Amino acid sequence: MAAAAEPVFWLGKETLRVSAALFAENRRRLAEGLKANGDLQPRSLVLLQGGEQKQRYCTDTELVFRQESYFHWTFGVSEADCLGAIDVDTGRSILFVPKLPDSYATWMGEIHPREHFKQKYAVDEVQYTCDIVDVLSTYQSALLLTLRGQNTDSGSICREASFEGISGFQVNNTLLHPVIVECRLLKTDMELEVLRYTNRISSDAHKMLMKHVKPGMKEYEMESLFQHYCYTKGGMRHTSYTCICGTGNNSSVLHYGHAGAPNDKSIEDGDMCLFDMGGEYYCYSSDITCSFPANGKFTADQRAIYEAVLKSSRAVMAAIKPGVKWTEMHRLADQVHLEELVKIGILKGSVADMMKVHMGSVFMPHGLGHLLGIDVHDVGGYPEGVERTDEPGLKSLRMGRLVRERMVLTVEPGIYFINHLLDQALANSAQSCFIDNQVLARFRGFGGVRIEDDIAVTASGVELLTCVPRTVEEIEEFMSDPAVKAFSPVVCSQSL
Ligand code: GLY
Ligand code: MN
Ligand code: MN
Repeated sequence: MAAAAEPVFWLGKETLRVSAALFAENRRRLAEGLKANGDLQPRSLVLLQGGEQKQRYCTDTELVFRQESYFHWTFGVSEADCLGAIDVDTGRSILFVPKLPDSYATWMGEIHPREHFKQKYAVDEVQYTCDIVDVLSTYQSALLLTLRGQNTDSGSICREASFEGISGFQVNNTLLHPVIVECRLLKTDMELEVLRYTNRISSDAHKMLMKHVKPGMKEYEMESLFQHYCYTKGGMRHTSYTCICGTGNNSSVLHYGHAGAPNDKSIEDGDMCLFDMGGEYYCYSSDITCSFPANGKFTADQRAIYEAVLKSSRAVMAAIKPGVKWTEMHRLADQVHLEELVKIGILKGSVADMMKVHMGSVFMPHGLGHLLGIDVHDVGGYPEGVERTDEPGLKSLRMGRLVRERMVLTVEPGIYFINHLLDQALANSAQSCFIDNQVLARFRGFGGVRIEDDIAVTASGVELLTCVPRTVEEIEEFMSDPAVKAFSPVVCSQSL
């Protein structure tokens, strides 16, 4: 019997074993996608450039390397400074690795032969980057397909493969990007398995925080505990984005945790916590937000806002299936929020009329959710022909297209009390007429609630990947009952 293939990535213990077959399948899908494109000439080679090892500013201090996302999706290679090629006609893959100087063996460790990388990454051929001109010249009059395109979230242009001597080749830099983006949009079974893992570990890390948080602790202790758990138990060296550990009014700061507001407040009794953190394993992301009271017991107002957000989260999840418009899911969340804010007394009047003046965006200025994969805001949200809607709230939506099976998305509705947005709304007569300012005043300084889950779209609905206590009762019981250990399985609120 043949021995089981070694995983291409595994950090021992209980961490996930990932097979190089995941990337072989990605390359196969990419070649098929390119072949289906009528504009492609025979003898085309995909050429991708991996990430570069960088130093901190002008120093020789190396930054911790994280692979470039398209290159990772295609080759699963962990090392820096590589290139990779795929012969579209045959599917043959060539990995180019740097020829390292002898000094590398002194400072960095063993210099592996090319055969090592061929075995490890299960590619057809490994060559040195310094030989790339000679190697690619054997593919006579081949067309090199390089990657050039805009990331629709950041606006940045991805880095196109380049090497000394590329001017001697025919290059096309427009065909590859739309095809590879469409491939990354839909996750394979093997990718879903990795995303289930990132969610399981990150969910457990959030649960551990719920057990540990106490008034008097610092927000950054939560960040540190989360990272420690994800790395120790999950082998996650990176988080998918900067940890957001907002408490009290900071929980209304959507991307709190940055250098200017580095999770440095003391957590106080009565604060709501909004912890938005996700671990990354082998470059695959997770993105989870848990909101709960620091002292483990919701006040009436905290419960009301929390349950309004939970209601919209569950309404959206129940409605998601292939074919639905993501913009409509965002509107559905807004609608539920506005209905609930009327019940709470913060708003008054017709919800239909409120929707016409975009009242939803006063309380949820961000988009309902986004694609998730190798990037936390994964690619593919706005392919050519799908335009971003210019309405408040919806303009922040990172995906404008129809939902499809095998998309992985976040569902992250929130209600926030952001003073400058509230003041703007109060100064706008079209919106202020719906606001009961006296009731609203009670919520100034409340912060916000976001409930963020990761889902995979199935043929008929969704698979919920995130598993943390979600209802008020589940959270209060989980936080208060010493008999409920942090890692005993929680009953997830999956009844949609
Ligand atoms: N954590 C960033 C986001 O939720 O999109
Ligand atoms: Mn998030
Ligand atoms: Mn998110």
